[in-house]
Amino acid sequence: MITSKTDKELYSIPTMVFESGSIGYMERLFLAQLIIIANAQHIIETGSFKGQTTIFLSQLLKQNNMEGKIYSFDLPDVVESIRKNEPYFQTADNVSFIGGSLPQTLHEHLDRNRHNPLDFAIVDSEHTYRQVKVELNTIHPFLKPGAYVFCHDYRESDEKYQGVVSAVDEFAAERRYSILPLAGKMVWGAAVLRKKCE
Ligand SMILES: C[S@@+](CC[C@H](N)C(=O)[O-])C[C@H]1O[C@@H](n2cnc3c(N)ncnc32)[C@H](O)[C@@H]1O
Repeated sequence: MITSKTDKELYSIPTMVFESGSIGYMERLFLAQLIIIANAQHIIETGSFKGQTTIFLSQLLKQNNMEGKIYSFDLPDVVESIRKNEPYFQTADNVSFIGGSLPQTLHEHLDRNRHNPLDFAIVDSEHTYRQVKVELNTIHPFLKPGAYVFCHDYRESDEKYQGVVSAVDEFAAERRYSILPLAGKMVWGAAVLRKKCE
């Protein structure tokens, strides 16, 4: 028997607050759907900025009765400023900020939690070839087979982001990940990577 369900019955999307420099509306919708499909529990975000995407992810998990936790990484002063200025995080028990320099902080976290491999990663710190490549290589051994990595600012038609595009393309070819660019020639852009299922 075929049953039909509305989006509302299937999942609930939190209200989105626009913040220049953050992951945008369309991209957050993709993120939400992937996280729900993957039933992601252990989620990381490199680059917290003002914490608006982190709030979105935290609310997404709560609204959909998911038990996951988000670990968001940024420099110590940025993390301190988020904790001071964003009241949401005073009570959010499914978010942990980790202050320090990437990729070291990320590697320490993943190594410490190697019994709990990663379900979902968002790569969105420094948009250079070197940084994106090193973060992807850091994540790779700790990522579950079949898990997704959302690479923000994969913008094929913007010269400024060619380092991101090269790092993601190279990584995908070297490690045999599937790759799905999300925006083609539009002004924004992201790519989703998927680790092989073995
Ligand atoms: C584009 S913003 C992140 C946006 C955020 N994901 C959002 O959607 O709101 C990039 C962030 O990465 C941080 N960052 C850049 N290089 C870093 C590094 N080496 N270690 C830690 N954080 C870094 C910056 O401080 C900045 O806040």
